[in-house]
Amino acid sequence: MEQLKGLILSGGKGTRLRPITYTSAKQLVPVANKPVLFYGIEAMAAAGVREVGIIIAPETGDEIRSLTGDGSRFGVQISYIEQDAPLGLAHAVLTAESFLASSPFVMYLGDNLLQGGITELVAEFREHEPEALILLTPVPDPENYGVAELDAQGAVARLVEKPKKPATDLALVGVYMFTPRIHDAARAIAPSGRGELEITDAIQWLVDETHRVESHVVRGWWKDTGRLDDMLEANRLILETVERRVDGELVDAQIHGRVIVEGGARLERSTVRGPAIIGAGAVLRDAYVGPYTAVGPGCVIEQAEVEHSILLEGSSVRGLQGRMESSLLGKNVTISRDQRQPRAYRFMVGDNSEIGIL
Ligand code: TTP
Repeated sequence: MEQLKGLILSGGKGTRLRPITYTSAKQLVPVANKPVLFYGIEAMAAAGVREVGIIIAPETGDEIRSLTGDGSRFGVQISYIEQDAPLGLAHAVLTAESFLASSPFVMYLGDNLLQGGITELVAEFREHEPEALILLTPVPDPENYGVAELDAQGAVARLVEKPKKPATDLALVGVYMFTPRIHDAARAIAPSGRGELEITDAIQWLVDETHRVESHVVRGWWKDTGRLDDMLEANRLILETVERRVDGELVDAQIHGRVIVEGGARLERSTVRGPAIIGAGAVLRDAYVGPYTAVGPGCVIEQAEVEHSILLEGSSVRGLQGRMESSLLGKNVTISRDQRQPRAYRFMVGDNSEIGIL
């Protein structure tokens, strides 16, 4: 088989992660202080993929490009491919056609995380040489996913997008392997009800044309980080795997369990209970940081308690009475207690923000 290329989809609208996605790409939201997108690139590199194309949107492409670079630090060569509008996953494949040319490829949704990586799948694809290999995972709510029906031999018989009455609980995971036949499929299908060229329709076309589509049920966890709760869950799962490392400075501070404190961070009269990560140059003063929290570089937490949260670069939380939890703060967000009288809440908050107060 020809050398396998990689295609990572990092365009899209990201409506479910507004307001974060008004100013930044959702694929750059950090999980355990590393952009989601980087996990996908690393998975490709680990599987021996050397040429990776990244689909970008006009609005967020520059940010992705400048942060991710030419790929040398991942050991791959990255090409950026701009998709004019988010017209669907199969449209993204067509957009990348000249990059992909006649190569088979692995396609990875840039906001997805797959625990076990893709090495095993790549090997299976090479060995069996089907036209497509899709990944499946059992989910409790298949009606919210693309769902696969398999025949007696385990080959894919039918794919249904968000079925009202799902025939199985096997949802499509955001990683796919294809031969160039998928380009014919993407050209043959029509846009769906939501106006997108759906990858499920393209794969269904392959099945209908009697091309062999195989499936593989993933063993480890898989997360689509498209919504806040999933992002926090991905952060939790990744933090579960970190090893303790303390490079920053501790002054009367206590650290319990698996905690990373990056160099230049300073913890004064504070407690951190892992798994957690405190980014470079962050300051914790009279603070408590609880499990499953990722504090970005340069953040400040002072006289406050934060747990099960993600704080992006440069944010600060000061003087809170209750504990902040299950929260995602964008870059340079400030949350503080106003000491002036009369005591009142005071906000400056962007569109579609969410604030919960006891
Ligand atoms: P989705 O999460 O399905 O779509 P979206 O990014 O538009 O998000 P939302 O539903 O919240 O509005 O997309 C999965 C991944 O594929 C994601 O990383 C974005 C990317 N994508 C493209 O690159 N091009 C596209 O045309 C679409 C639809 C998605």
